[in-house]
Amino acid sequence: MNTEIVKNLTPQDIKRMGTLLREGELVAIPTETVYGLGANGLMPEAMDKIYMAKGRPSDNPLILHVADEESVRPLVKELNETAKKLMAAFWPGPFTMTLEKSELVPNRATGGLNKVALRCPDHALTRAIIKAAGVPIAAPSANISGRPSPTSAEGVYDDMKGKIAAIVDDGPSRVGIESTVVEVLDDEVIILRPGAVTAEMLAEIVSVVRYDKAIQDINEAPKAPGMKYKHYAPKAPLTAYIGEKTPQSMARDLRVYLQENRDTVGVFCSQETATYLQEHLSHEEWGRCHVYSFGRRGDIEAMAMSFYEALLQFDKEQVGKSLAEGTKDKGLGVALMNRMDKATAHQIIDVD
Ligand code: TXA
Ligand code: MG
Repeated sequence: MNTEIVKNLTPQDIKRMGTLLREGELVAIPTETVYGLGANGLMPEAMDKIYMAKGRPSDNPLILHVADEESVRPLVKELNETAKKLMAAFWPGPFTMTLEKSELVPNRATGGLNKVALRCPDHALTRAIIKAAGVPIAAPSANISGRPSPTSAEGVYDDMKGKIAAIVDDGPSRVGIESTVVEVLDDEVIILRPGAVTAEMLAEIVSVVRYDKAIQDINEAPKAPGMKYKHYAPKAPLTAYIGEKTPQSMARDLRVYLQENRDTVGVFCSQETATYLQEHLSHEEWGRCHVYSFGRRGDIEAMAMSFYEALLQFDKEQVGKSLAEGTKDKGLGVALMNRMDKATAHQIIDVD
């Protein structure tokens, strides 16, 4: 299959992408979080194609993306007050809620669960495409299962070329990590996956905000089936560092690694850390570091936006190992460190 890349969409292009989706083709769509692999969310055969293209276990449910709040009604059994308040506060945006599904939603969309995940993305072009399709769009992140989620059309192309009908290119994703997923109860939410809508933000809307046990305890079975799989993994082993002594620890570990090995290392860090490393490594050692700087130390939004992109770049450069500067988990940092924990297979070192 030839995979078309569509940029600077005209109204006709938007219509055409909508038609491809409605008729059961896969089209990758940009969102503010990460790129999604879209399919008709009411058509089981179309969703089968998602599982095939991603190599994804079919018990892992999909998020249905809608163009507006009204489109949710036919997809759910009922909308309680909490759900209405949450939609009003966080849609369109990086926020997904699970609610009891109606008969209209195929089991294929929910992996057999009786709740369906719903999100209205903060991306006008993609909402226009969903509107043109006239059906909810099932869209997991547009990566091969287990790989970092793509935040650019190039990242999608690397994993999906030849497997899908089209990729809509609208430049880099603004947030860079996947949406917050919550289960909605009465005046209570359970965070199944942390994201840019933080626990603090949710607490302003609902009385009780809890984290699913699996987010803190790696031995718990998660409620979001997707959270149990090894996720977001770069090809080479990754170690993350948090705390004041991060530059010093990175420099020491880099020196040891580079002396014992002959390959290169990926380093995801702040501008300040990069400067420190350049000053403290030999010219030869520094030359074997592929440094991806996200900006100022502690700029969590910038870190979140570029983390997956950096991992995909390190994969391309075929580094033997990578190091990442992390952050203490508050606000958006909770979501970022949740992804770093997975990407490092729990190798996060606190060097305070
Ligand atoms: O930001 C995002 O959410 C992106 C963009 C494309 O919208 N999508 C995304 O989809 O990250 P995906 O499929 O990669 O992740 C969806 C997560 C999985 O962990 C899945 O298990 C969970 O949501 N999920 C979906 N439906 C669920 C349900 N009914 N109950 C519990 N968890 C659910
Ligand atoms: Mg994903």
